[in-house]
Amino acid sequence: MSSTWKNRLSLSLFGESHGKAVGMTLDGLPAGEIVDFEALQALLDRRAGGKTPYATPRKEADIPEYLSGLKDGKTTGAPLTAVFQNGNIRPSDYASLRDIPRPGHADFTAEVKYGGHQDPSGGGHFSGRLTAPLCVAGGICLQILARHGITVEARIVSIGGVSGSMEEMTTEMARAKEAKDSVGGVIECVVSGLPAGLGDPIFDGMENRIASIVFGIPAVKGIEFGIGFAGTALLGSEYNDPFYFDGGTVKARTNNNGGILGGITTGMPLVFRTAIKPTPSIEKSQETVNLRTGESATIETHGRHDVCIVPRALPCIEAAAAIAIYDAML
Ligand SMILES: Cc1cc2nc3c(=O)[nH]c(=O)nc-3n(C[C@H](O)[C@H](O)[C@H](O)COP(=O)(O)O)c2cc1C
Repeated sequence: MSSTWKNRLSLSLFGESHGKAVGMTLDGLPAGEIVDFEALQALLDRRAGGKTPYATPRKEADIPEYLSGLKDGKTTGAPLTAVFQNGNIRPSDYASLRDIPRPGHADFTAEVKYGGHQDPSGGGHFSGRLTAPLCVAGGICLQILARHGITVEARIVSIGGVSGSMEEMTTEMARAKEAKDSVGGVIECVVSGLPAGLGDPIFDGMENRIASIVFGIPAVKGIEFGIGFAGTALLGSEYNDPFYFDGGTVKARTNNNGGILGGITTGMPLVFRTAIKPTPSIEKSQETVNLRTGESATIETHGRHDVCIVPRALPCIEAAAAIAIYDAML
């Protein structure tokens, strides 16, 4: 099992949803960076469950305990470790998942790969709860980026295929909840204030770096940069972003490439969209198998789960992008 993302920064996530704790170690941060704990908590609160009728009713304090790497509110330069104790655990909700895997979740693949040694409760190490420590690492990077004039902001583009007002999207979530089902959606993230020239070609471009960490967020099933797939329907003359001089700075008239050319930032806003699939755990009955008996089975998930992951994934996407971008700046 590898849960370490490694570049200039090295981020390791550990823990299980219904185990003792989840946490992270972030290595490679420079010394002397101030951490605004209030702002960090605000980011974590946006991710936490129990806040809206469509998020999991599982409420956790989501207040990290810092074990190393910080002194007097500043980074020491040593590996920074933060843990979240899991208070609100109910392993019994998930006792049967080892035998009867939820369609769409990682129960089946974890069983195949780890042969019953994995912790299946609440998805174990595959749980969305692992994004709490991801948000600590990303939250610190967001703060450092802000001091360099770089902002990272994610917004919901659509939910359940509906891209209208927040009210219309909320109606989609309500409809899914009523039907004991779930919905997914699309998140757009814009990084502003980036200098031109960040990133490398071929395998180490900004697309590669961002995608590799964004796919560490469970339920992410797609990512596109700029106008992505829609750009395939345009002519080159429509798609290309014409350059012009704005004072001494080269800018582009449009930003279909999402601020990246050849893996390297152009200085235009870096824009990417992420596809978040519908939450796998649903109360509606679904076909599955019993891996012990070899028989067909049905499953209805009555544990606590999100009707829609998208609102809680917003800060996770910002955090993931911030880690990749700050790493590239280092
Ligand atoms: C913030 C967050 C919350 C999540 N909550 C749930 C949940 O309540 N129930 C569930 O089945 N999956 C939830 N997931 C998604 C699963 O963890 C994920 O679909 C599963 O691990 C399989 O991985 P994959 O979808 O990336 O293939 C959540 C993901 C995130 C990011």
